[in-house]
Amino acid sequence: MIRLEHLSKFYGSGQSAVAALQDVELHVPEGSITGVIGVSGAGKSTLIRCVNLLERPTSGKVWVDGQDLTCLDEQGLRKARHDIGMIFQHFNLLDSRTVYRNIAFPLELMGLNKAAIQQRITPLLELTGLTDKRDNYPSALSGGQKQRVAIARALASRPKVLLCDEATSALDPQTTTSILELLREINQELGLTILLITHEMEVVKSICDSVALISDGRLVETSRVGPFFTRPGTELGRAFLEDFLRIEPPRSLRERLESSAPDKPHPIVRLVFNDENVSSPLISQLAREFELDISILQARIEDIQGHTLGLMIAEFRGSPDQIQTALAHLESMQLTTEVLGYVE
Ligand SMILES: Nc1ncnc2c1ncn2[C@@H]1O[C@H](COP(=O)(O)OP(=O)(O)OP(=O)(O)O)[C@@H](O)[C@H]1O
Ligand SMILES: [Mg+2]
Repeated sequence: MIRLEHLSKFYGSGQSAVAALQDVELHVPEGSITGVIGVSGAGKSTLIRCVNLLERPTSGKVWVDGQDLTCLDEQGLRKARHDIGMIFQHFNLLDSRTVYRNIAFPLELMGLNKAAIQQRITPLLELTGLTDKRDNYPSALSGGQKQRVAIARALASRPKVLLCDEATSALDPQTTTSILELLREINQELGLTILLITHEMEVVKSICDSVALISDGRLVETSRVGPFFTRPGTELGRAFLEDFLRIEPPRSLRERLESSAPDKPHPIVRLVFNDENVSSPLISQLAREFELDISILQARIEDIQGHTLGLMIAEFRGSPDQIQTALAHLESMQLTTEVLGYVE
């Protein structure tokens, strides 16, 4: 549905030019939800704004629904943009218009008559749960309600693609969940293709099918979400995941944790299980085979669209040699292990 080919964007020119995007190749299949992640300044907003040509790329092509937007004249582009809705972090509503008239705005620009506008807006108010707010002004709405208005407005022209630039970043976790559910519903019921930017892995985990990682204007990794969470392909992917999966030893233990091994070392080990080994009885096997006592201090299981990821912090007690062999055994079973420190 969306295809970016050799997309580059430079701001300014000559010595002071900023390379915001360099040679980006991205394919977003029809009906999918793709998340773009990257640190601040990586080029995420530039990328998404190039999809509807709010930013004109310096070079490269932008295909949306089989049409190269970079070749279109003003009129062609205006028409093509009806197929592309967009929502933003700060909603960008018109304060002087009611909910109804905010949603009507793009339709007025398209030249639709009053009856046609009403016909389109009524189901959108229902879909977004705003029927009883239709005559309210934005100042009387919560953040989540404002974003619902923005979503309804973005859908008014019946687009095929929805672009979301940090659409939930200004919302609390509960409201974020309800907006993500709405986006999922729109994706499934209207078949809309969604390209969204986020810095929250939780957003990627809960609604994206695929993820694209950008760094310094370059696309460094694209992957289906399940495999990405269990086996990211790049250092940057691992770093994002590391933050998301952080699991800390309990406070009382942290205070006793030594960085170097004392005389009788009991390592505190962080283990990351994935699909291949999460369901096998590894801990009891280890305990038997290597004569260890293993205490589980902290554990977490994540279900990521059918893929399982397990995290555990455990204390290993036993002979130092046996502990070493046991850890090597775990690594050979494709588990990630990390000794966080030691306790007496
Ligand atoms: N209009 C502009 N003029 C000049 N430089 C710009 C402009 N817009 C963005 N940039 C630069 O381009 C780079 C990419 O910016 P962009 O806004 O796309 O990043 P981002 O990944 O969206 O960051 P954030 O997470 O902070 O929103 C940055 O170095 C930024 O300073
Ligand atoms: Mg941005």
